[in-house]
Amino acid sequence: MKKQRIIGMFDSGVGGLTVMKEILDHIADVRIIYVGDTARVPYGNRTLEELTRFGEEILTFLISQGAEVIVAACNTSSATALPVLRERFDIPLIGMIEPGARLAVESTKEGRIGLIATEATVRSKAYASAVSKALAKGLLPQDKKLRTAWQHGEQPIVLVKAQACPLFVPLVEAGLSNSAEARGIARTYLEPIAQAEVDTVILGCTHYPFLTPVLREVLGHQVVFVDPALAVVEELQELLYRLDVRDAADTSAVVQSNWRVRYFVSGDPGLFRQVGNTLLHEPIAEVQRISWGE
Ligand code: DGL
Repeated sequence: MKKQRIIGMFDSGVGGLTVMKEILDHIADVRIIYVGDTARVPYGNRTLEELTRFGEEILTFLISQGAEVIVAACNTSSATALPVLRERFDIPLIGMIEPGARLAVESTKEGRIGLIATEATVRSKAYASAVSKALAKGLLPQDKKLRTAWQHGEQPIVLVKAQACPLFVPLVEAGLSNSAEARGIARTYLEPIAQAEVDTVILGCTHYPFLTPVLREVLGHQVVFVDPALAVVEELQELLYRLDVRDAADTSAVVQSNWRVRYFVSGDPGLFRQVGNTLLHEPIAEVQRISWGE
C-alpha cells in the first residue's frame, strides 16, 4: 500500500485555500496541514526580514506536525523569503513563482503577459525574472504562431505590466470578494493592465482566484487568467512520485489516518471558516488556533 503523504501548506490567510482546493481536486492520496497566518495578514506590505521570520516559524510548526513536503501557497513569501527558507530547512519546498511563470509562457498567445499581485511580489520582480529564465531554459508557448515568431526573434514574450493591488487581500479576508467595493477597486487597479494590452494575466496572489468573477467582469473574456496553483499541482505530483520511487523499498507499516485536512490559524478561526467555506467543496469542520509566542 502506498504511503499517504502529509503536505504542509501556508499563506497569510484564506488565499492558500485556492491552491489547496486544486491539490485536493487532483491528488487523492495526500493529507494536508494548512496554516493561515491571519493574525499577521496582509503579508503584501511586509519586509523581507518579517516574511523570512514568519516563514521560519510556520515551517518549524508544520514540520513538528509531520509535514514531509511544504507548499508555500503564498506568492509574497515565494517571491521574497523562499530562497532563504530553502537554505535553512532540509525539506522539499514548492513555491508559486516558477510554476506560475511557466504556465503564463505556455498560455500566452501574443507574448504580452500582465501580472497582478501584492506590493512585495511586484517589487521583487520575481515573476519577470522567472518568465525570462523559463524561456532561456527552452520553454515554449503552446500557440504555434507565437512559438514560430518567438523562435525567429520576431516577437518577444515578456511580462509587460505588473500591477500591485493592495486592497484585494483585505477585501477577500473580509468576505467581500463579490461586492460593489471589490468591483470599484478592481476597475481602478486593472485600468493600467487593460491599457497595456496584455493577452494573459497571472493571478500572482493566491487570494485573487476568490475575485475571478469580478476580475473577469472588468477585464472581459478575451484575456486569459493564469492561476499558478494548477502548475503547483503538477510540480507536487512529480515530487510525490519521486518520493514514492525513493521509498519504494521501505517496508515499514503504512499509517492511514481518518483526517484529510487539519487547519490552523493565528487569528480569528470563525472568519477563516466562514470565508473558506465559500470556496471549498467540503466545509471546514474545525480550525485550531496557534500563536507564535510574541
Ligand atoms: N495570498 C498571499 C500571496 O499570494 C499573501 C497576500 C497578502 O497577505 O498580502 O501573495
